[in-house]
Amino acid sequence: MLNTEYISALGVSDAEYNEIIAKAAEIIKSGSVVALPTETVYGLFADATSTEAVAKIFEAKGRPQDNPLIVHIADFQDIYKLSDEVPKEAEELAKKFWPGPFTMIVKSNGRVSKSVSAGLSTIAVRMPDSKIALDVIRASKLPLAAPSANISGFPSPTSAEHVRDDMTGRIEMIIDGGECRYGVESTVLSLTGDVPRILRPGAVTADAIKAVVGAVEIDESVLKPVGEGFVVSSPGMKYRHYSPKAQVIVLRGSLNSFVEYVERHQMEGDFALCFDGEEDLLPIRAVSFGAEKDSLMQAQRLYSALRQLDELGAERVFARCPSKEGVGLAVCNRLFRAAGFNVIDLK
Ligand code: TXA
Ligand code: MG
Repeated sequence: MLNTEYISALGVSDAEYNEIIAKAAEIIKSGSVVALPTETVYGLFADATSTEAVAKIFEAKGRPQDNPLIVHIADFQDIYKLSDEVPKEAEELAKKFWPGPFTMIVKSNGRVSKSVSAGLSTIAVRMPDSKIALDVIRASKLPLAAPSANISGFPSPTSAEHVRDDMTGRIEMIIDGGECRYGVESTVLSLTGDVPRILRPGAVTADAIKAVVGAVEIDESVLKPVGEGFVVSSPGMKYRHYSPKAQVIVLRGSLNSFVEYVERHQMEGDFALCFDGEEDLLPIRAVSFGAEKDSLMQAQRLYSALRQLDELGAERVFARCPSKEGVGLAVCNRLFRAAGFNVIDLK
């Protein structure tokens, strides 16, 4: 068990802030792991060039060894230290979306530890739009590997309290920087094929990417389970993901048909995950995660709502089905995975 230091960077003086950043960078340079907020979710940051440091990330999360990590940089030029084959589109996309919730997969030149890419010849790179994360990357002068700061398989953390629940005793330090702005992980775009391909949807939408590069494909694993023998483009897609302890069932259809279904099937321990304002219309206890038409808000609140349902002791959760337009695709992707793709079409 490690003695996890929990420090808030909220409302501190400039001098205190600089001290926190310097301390985090020191811990990272010494080969250990620090949890930091980014604009998407909190991440577990460590030196991407050190095999031992990267191993500590995998251990802290209980993450399968074949699921690669994203490398975080603070300056676009640093991508050239990680890849000798950066396509022209990468520059255009970075100009538009970096720093921001956007990750690009390019050919790796092998300079970071092999374990970061889990044996793949490619590497995922992102420049986060979070002052704390950027300052720590700059202060450590290293490319930093960082997955979401949750125990593998559970919902990603969107607040420092979530990280504390999952990571106390497992890492050296947690920095509290408040709630994450987007609440779902970055869009992951592969640039290694003929046409750019979204492997994981996020706050940077397919349409926004299309406007820069002309064409974009969406990997079929985004809204469907990957079958036996299917070669996955992103190993992260294989695993049960984002799931609370409760069983989640997504019910696709109108509010009326949702209410009818729940009335017919309800048992003790059932909860609903619904849109704002619907709570009182449902026959079971409910947690809401944003207005029906507000995908950005749903993204921001989804993981927190899933964690809250566990705290309330939910055994089974009936979830309303979000729209899959725009950022909604990311919300659907995470919720469908949390449900193990148990999605029922109501008539
Ligand atoms: O917003 C984010 O991206 C957050 C914050 C902390 O930056 N990070 C994050 O990391 O979500 P993680 O490890 O939870 O998810 C990384 C995803 C996984 O699905 C992984 O399989 C995929 O990116 N990935 C990483 N490297 C890859 C590669 N070379 N090829 C294909 N997929 C890759
Ligand atoms: Mg994750």
